[in-house]
Amino acid sequence: LTVLSVASECWPLVKTGGLADVVGALPAAVAPHGIAMTRFLPGYPAVMRALGRKRTVHKYAALLGTPARILAGRHDDRPILVLDAPAFYDRDGGPYADAMGRDWFDNGLRFAALAKAGADIATGRAGVKAFDVLHAHDWQAGLAPAYLVYGDASERRPASVMTVHNMAFQGYFGADFFPRLELPRTAFSIEGVEYHGGVGMLKAGMMLADAITTVSPGYADEIRKPQFGMGLEGLIEGRQDRLSGIVNGIDTQQWNPATDAALAAPFTAKTLGARMGNKRAVEAAFGLTPDHGPLFTVISRLTWQKGMDVLIEVIDHLVGLGGRLALLGTGDAAIEAGLHAAAARHPGRVGIRIGYDEELAHLLQGGADAILVPSRFEPCGLTQLYGLAYGCVPVVARTGGLGDTVVDANVAAIAARAATGIQFSPVNYEGLADAITRTIRLYGDAPTWRQIQRSGMATDFSWAKSGADYAALYRGLKEQQ
Ligand code: ADP
Ligand code: GLC
Repeated sequence: LTVLSVASECWPLVKTGGLADVVGALPAAVAPHGIAMTRFLPGYPAVMRALGRKRTVHKYAALLGTPARILAGRHDDRPILVLDAPAFYDRDGGPYADAMGRDWFDNGLRFAALAKAGADIATGRAGVKAFDVLHAHDWQAGLAPAYLVYGDASERRPASVMTVHNMAFQGYFGADFFPRLELPRTAFSIEGVEYHGGVGMLKAGMMLADAITTVSPGYADEIRKPQFGMGLEGLIEGRQDRLSGIVNGIDTQQWNPATDAALAAPFTAKTLGARMGNKRAVEAAFGLTPDHGPLFTVISRLTWQKGMDVLIEVIDHLVGLGGRLALLGTGDAAIEAGLHAAAARHPGRVGIRIGYDEELAHLLQGGADAILVPSRFEPCGLTQLYGLAYGCVPVVARTGGLGDTVVDANVAAIAARAATGIQFSPVNYEGLADAITRTIRLYGDAPTWRQIQRSGMATDFSWAKSGADYAALYRGLKEQQ
């Protein structure tokens, strides 16, 4: 069975968050189940450079108004397809915004083109064999199911899956955008792509795909409520029978503390003492005074979703209890400023690195004692999974995938040797401050702490189960075709 995975990010070619990790890992996760997955990505400069030899399989004189080509190449020893449309993607800056962080003015069109070309490829109209299933990720690929549904009715239509990695980003554009999509007028309806008088790209995908998934069962439940559904809860309720939650795994080759080249001192669950070498390296990198007290880390986008405003409020409490913090992230300017102010108040106790640094993220997981993830909502979350794998005990808000993947260290769980971290709610000062107090108390009980670390490291966070779940979903859809 063949699947075309359509996405705007893919590790290691282009990454701004967990979406890239998941899109990068999925082909290997489903391959053992007989699924041949090809990824289809925008031809950003970094992608074009990384691909090396490629051949043109299809040419558009105009794809939504712009000359474009579909190129075939290989990456990670797997086939990959790229949309080479220089007017859309050949730019300096990020995948969604310029170097100043301003969204590209034509993001709607840039990703509509990706979705349209994806639908062409999957249907067999673009110089490669048709696919059984088109798997669309997030709003950037959300129109692909629409292009399938409103395409040529005489053609055999592949099944489609819409995966929601984050309901907060919906790809909404005004009504004047619709004519540029080259969809039939009938598509501009409640049953189609129309949303609040404009075009909703994620809405379109969720409405028109044959199956909807989110990246954890917990989040699949939560998005039925307005607080998490963010306007789409009605649609979700109506399509409950099509919705499922499949929790993300992690790439256990990239994230293996025994072999990780980014670590100062690789280690296993049997050699946890070696983590000290990484702790010293973190302290040096973040200008922290070395000691034996608990070292917390945060590796995150600095946004409201991630609860970073609440984190800033509790830093004094954390330091007051003898804790230290090493934080790596980028995001909102106001949050960055608040973090800098906290670091200035606590020299040697709080170290901040603003920026994106994959290697440093690995070192932090290998050297810090605990990772804080105080998200207000979290579809899955990957940093707590990397924390589990690296003996960096996750302290997480009880929401979405965080609640699904971390076992709280309550008395019963500790007694059963099942605890892997700390959960808390609500996400406010008291909630997080309490969780930090609990964590520091547990840290002081060395045998229990070691047990929590080891239980985390023994957790199965590989893709094995979720890869099987996706494969079963694809097969079920193909049978219904
Ligand atoms: P989200 O996708 O919502 O940002 P996830 O937890 O799913 O959250 O994924 C975040 C990914 O990005 C993880 O792989 C994490 O290690 C990485 N990451 C986030 N911020 C940084 C940063 N500043 N430097 C390096 N890696 C980062
Ligand atoms: C989104 C979510 C995050 C999830 C990631 C990968 O960025 O915010 O929770 O882990 O996608 O699915």
